Amino acid sequence: MRIQSFEKDLNVPKGTNLLSALASAGIHLRNECGGVGRCGKCRVLCADGLTPPNESEMKIIGAKNIQKGVRLACQSKVLKSTEVHIPQTSMERRIKILVEGSLKELKLNPSVKKKEIRISSQSLKRDLSWEAIRSQMGSKNRLESYPTLHFLKQLSENGNIKEGRLSCILMSQRCLDMEKGAGTGYHLYGMAFDIGTTTIVGYLHDLTSGNQLSLSAIMNPQTKFGGDVVSRILHATSAPNGLRELQDAVIGALNEIIQEVSKKTGILNKQIYEICAVGNTTMHHLLLGLCPSNLTHFPYTPTIREAFSFPAKEIGVSIHPDGQFYLLPLISGFMGSDTVGVVLSTGLHKSKHVNLAIDIGTNGEIVLGNCDRMVAASCAAGPAFEGGQIQYGMPGTSGAIDGMAIDSRGQIRIHTIDGLPPLGICGSGLVDAISEMIRERMINQDGRLLNKEEIGNRNLASRMIRTDSQEAFLLYQEKGNRNQGQNILITQKDVRQLQLAKSAIWAGIQILAGTIGIPLMEINEVFLAGAFGNYVKPESAIHIGLLPYFKKTKITPVGNAAGSGAKMALLSLKKREEANRIAQKIEYIELAKHSDFQNEYIKGMAFPLLKRDGSHSL
Ligand code: FES
Repeated sequence: MRIQSFEKDLNVPKGTNLLSALASAGIHLRNECGGVGRCGKCRVLCADGLTPPNESEMKIIGAKNIQKGVRLACQSKVLKSTEVHIPQTSMERRIKILVEGSLKELKLNPSVKKKEIRISSQSLKRDLSWEAIRSQMGSKNRLESYPTLHFLKQLSENGNIKEGRLSCILMSQRCLDMEKGAGTGYHLYGMAFDIGTTTIVGYLHDLTSGNQLSLSAIMNPQTKFGGDVVSRILHATSAPNGLRELQDAVIGALNEIIQEVSKKTGILNKQIYEICAVGNTTMHHLLLGLCPSNLTHFPYTPTIREAFSFPAKEIGVSIHPDGQFYLLPLISGFMGSDTVGVVLSTGLHKSKHVNLAIDIGTNGEIVLGNCDRMVAASCAAGPAFEGGQIQYGMPGTSGAIDGMAIDSRGQIRIHTIDGLPPLGICGSGLVDAISEMIRERMINQDGRLLNKEEIGNRNLASRMIRTDSQEAFLLYQEKGNRNQGQNILITQKDVRQLQLAKSAIWAGIQILAGTIGIPLMEINEVFLAGAFGNYVKPESAIHIGLLPYFKKTKITPVGNAAGSGAKMALLSLKKREEANRIAQKIEYIELAKHSDFQNEYIKGMAFPLLKRDGSHSL
């Protein structure tokens, strides 16, 4: 088989799945649905030599495109020698992963500490032993400390020390390791992880100074088993060995990140003593290899909600042989420790004022409250804000349209990530575009895309086309050859997808505000967390009714606030206690069961009418 776009020849047995064949050659296509023929992202061009198109292909690609040779790689098997062309839009791309978040000042107090001991032959009057070391520790440590086997082995190899200083590494009262010498010679390191459904970010910290030394981020390799938590739970509970595959994938990713930061800094794995991680409840269970079937049915009880600490080697994570893995507590079956991390790092739980934190990722998590009370909800916003289920949607990777404006003459200006030719549109670009189209009266309040005849501006009217029995707006027109760009449309269906997504968030905010009994105008500050929240323009989000109109409320993008929460827990035991209290205190509101949900959801579907002062009517 000839892969034209890569000038590569592949030899694969007859009947090999095309997506797997390409992956085995290092050519990774997008596969947001996990290769089940649902997302349509793995399109290739291949005229013959494959199994005939199946039902999924007919449904997703359509007969017309199939005639042109378009196929879904995940649904096709190779039958004979053929040529395959891979459009750039089908290639998996490096996501612009949001890694930074704010780390407010905190007092350094990690769980791993260094204890210096002075050894003198006079005071010892014997060879070095555990008892001799313990006798040199402070009174508290002297009574309660105990060694690990690894420590004793180190000690036996260094037992001839008669004079000088020793540094012992202590986690609580457990003596993990030792080194001859003292002072700054021995370094303690720890890592914080944000394990997201789509991306995993790891941060390496010096536990003696608190400084961040390095970070690394990769796509969560579990995406090959499905883009969302539901398909992963399905894989874990129904595929033979599915749970194991998912656990291996995430642990492999953590080890890859550890390797990467070790390589960048020259720090050895064995010098990393602890990992603190946050993630949603499904990611938490899959990491631990816990069957997530409880999360699929009422009352959606996680196997464990409390913070959980265990030896990292138990799940095969390569750090110090006695290193610990600490998982922050979960809130519920639908709300994980990533939300605890957001609250911890924004300080929402300590403020007297009522603040709102919104983290829009594959799902939307919302927390509203202050130091007295916090309520939270998880909104099934769907993947539209991440470019999923949008015809030309794509994640926030190079080439994605992430911003759009229409000038007074009706000319379109677009912005793409990394300034590359446009390949598709990501969530923030879609919100911008819809906001501009509402302003230009190309979309009415119900979300209907107007046709050519109904649009006043001639430039804009000329961009309206009819395709697949629906109206569509030509956002970008192809120039040059097909690898440099393509027509990018916003279709009526895309607008509907966005309406569904934004109304879920809208309804969540309304219900939480109602529960706590506060008018929206009285919310003091809104924290927008996560990649989408960080890049979306607040005014566009308000304009389309994703966010309510806030007159004086400050809207602050807080970056990867979940990751910042994990870092805080790594660096401070006090923050871990705070995290435990947050998880206990947050009242989780199940939106679907709330009596106002249907009403608010339907209300939130509409696009608001803007008033002169910028407020809106929703
Ligand atoms: S349709 Fe092929 S991976 Fe989703």
